[in-house]
Amino acid sequence: MAIYLDYNASTPIAPEVADAMQPYLQEGFGNPSSHHWASADLQSALAESRTQVADLLGGKSSEIIFTSGGSEGTNHALKGAYFQSGGGDAHIITTQIEHPATIETCRFLERLGAKVTYLPVDGEGYVNPADFQSAITPRTILVSVMHANNEVGTIEPIAEISDIARAHNILSHTDVAQSAGKIAVNVEALGVDLLTLAGHKLYAPKGVGALYIRNGIKIEPLIHGGGQEGGHRSGTESIVMAVALGTACELASTRLSPDHLGKTRDYFWSALHERFGDAVTQNGKLNARLPNTLNVSFIGRDGSKILECLDGIAASTGSACHEDQVTMSPVLAAMKVNDQTAMGAIRFSVGYATTLAEIEQVVESLSSVVQSM
Ligand SMILES: Cc1ncc(COP(=O)(O)O)c(C=O)c1O
Repeated sequence: MAIYLDYNASTPIAPEVADAMQPYLQEGFGNPSSHHWASADLQSALAESRTQVADLLGGKSSEIIFTSGGSEGTNHALKGAYFQSGGGDAHIITTQIEHPATIETCRFLERLGAKVTYLPVDGEGYVNPADFQSAITPRTILVSVMHANNEVGTIEPIAEISDIARAHNILSHTDVAQSAGKIAVNVEALGVDLLTLAGHKLYAPKGVGALYIRNGIKIEPLIHGGGQEGGHRSGTESIVMAVALGTACELASTRLSPDHLGKTRDYFWSALHERFGDAVTQNGKLNARLPNTLNVSFIGRDGSKILECLDGIAASTGSACHEDQVTMSPVLAAMKVNDQTAMGAIRFSVGYATTLAEIEQVVESLSSVVQSM
């Protein structure tokens, strides 16, 4: 039995995406900048892929640059904004629950002299825009808040945050690695200047993503060189990866169905609650959460031990084991979830292929594992 409930960690490549990549694995191997037969049509394939990405995000194709994934996009956005501003003690505002791609980039910039404020969240992992407003200083250049959290799925008030940012002449960035393909992501509705997309969370391969840079916004490139991607990101373009991301984005636009994911996730929670009663609880903002994400705590238990015993079932736990010590997930710690609850947390994330029969099997397995502990 192999059941995959870790779609927030990564997704399989959709068959349509694999098919679209195929021609570029063998033919079309030329350098997209060359002007001979081996490069014929590569520029148009690249342009079409860029349009597909832009369409999913509600932006213009001139605002999309291809990257290697979520980490690169966020590194580029944050470092690019910092260097463009002149660096020094420029101030960046982010949150305590960001992905390490954001937190560790901020830590690096702090070593260069940047000042960073890590905003707190409430018990549901939600950022209060008023906290952002009060953290602003005359040196603030950028705010970076994720659209949806990877562990608990909480959806953040990005439109409100970017409104405040705009009123103070501050750039706004959001990381939509988890939200794109699960809920609507629109750059106009969100009002952001910069946005990070990761391909492997929406059925494209690992190693591709995109950074949205609103027309007129200038940030320093992360990779300097031959000036590809409109000078934003040098390096010979990978047509096969661009086509993969474009196809995945088009697929996401057409099959975006939060209802389907939400029904599967809610069925899972009902079954768990029926089986375990008050011994299980949900983490995150229940009324503003990614539809596929179920972060549950088996109170007083060790989530990582439960997962270890769940034979053939792929899911995640936020707690990490360092030198025999199990530490709490930084996200649950920022939410001030008590120890007994946080240590028992497991993140299940469903996808388009998840069936109710699989959910029933997982609940049965959980039942026998927890009873035997
Ligand atoms: C919210 C979030 N941001 C960024 C990333 C990093 O993306 P990538 O693995 O494509 O670098 C992830 C992946 O786990 C994520 O969940």
